[in-house]
Amino acid sequence: MDPADFVRRNTAVTAPPLVPEIRLHLATEITPIWQATEDTLARTGLPPPFWAFAWAGGQALARYLLDHPVEVAGRSVLDFGAGSGLVAIAAAKAGAASVLAAEIDDFAAAAIAANASLNNVDISVRTTDLLDAIDPQWEIVTAGDVCYERPMADRVTGWLRILAGRGTLVLLGDPGRAYLPDKGLTERARYLVPTSREIEDRDNRETIVWQVMPG
Ligand SMILES: C[S@@+](CC[C@H](N)C(=O)[O-])C[C@H]1O[C@@H](n2cnc3c(N)ncnc32)[C@H](O)[C@@H]1O
Repeated sequence: MDPADFVRRNTAVTAPPLVPEIRLHLATEITPIWQATEDTLARTGLPPPFWAFAWAGGQALARYLLDHPVEVAGRSVLDFGAGSGLVAIAAAKAGAASVLAAEIDDFAAAAIAANASLNNVDISVRTTDLLDAIDPQWEIVTAGDVCYERPMADRVTGWLRILAGRGTLVLLGDPGRAYLPDKGLTERARYLVPTSREIEDRDNRETIVWQVMPG
């Protein structure tokens, strides 16, 4: 199964509600991707298709970057846990000098490449796990909706905090997920993000763009 082929066959081009200027290959009601995942991806032990949805945390972060381009213009950006690439694409559109999307899922990497091309921006993708090392080579690190699972959230937020301590501006978009740290965060902006009942349990989620403060 070619990942780029899977992405194209199981998605439709749609704009996330809070970020209408960015179009993405996303799952919709007419493309039953979770079913496809169970039938196809699970057999090969691949993770669920997080990349096929524009998560509330990512939408808020993308909106924030597009509305505050001064944060990223001319700077190097890493979008960690990029999924569809929504936040990375917003950073590129806002004028970032370079954008790297970090994703450990090869299908997400294919989705990011397809979505970058759809929006006429250059995004590099890295599929190695960056959490294994502290490498503060980016001026800005963004992370949309990464606090939904305890082991991952603990690992990611610890890593982000160390980067913040070394001078990186770290922005985290989060709609109140269970494993968001309860301290060391400063609110930058707040949005009401329309959500689908297919993946959330409500029609919208209040979502905050946080700056992660040094530990
Ligand atoms: C809920 S999705 C959020 C996607 C996107 N940021 C958004 O807001 O739409 C979280 C993503 O983090 C990715 N991820 C998990 N662990 C990771 C790691 N160690 N390095 C890079 N990406 C990771 C998952 O594959 C998944 O696509």
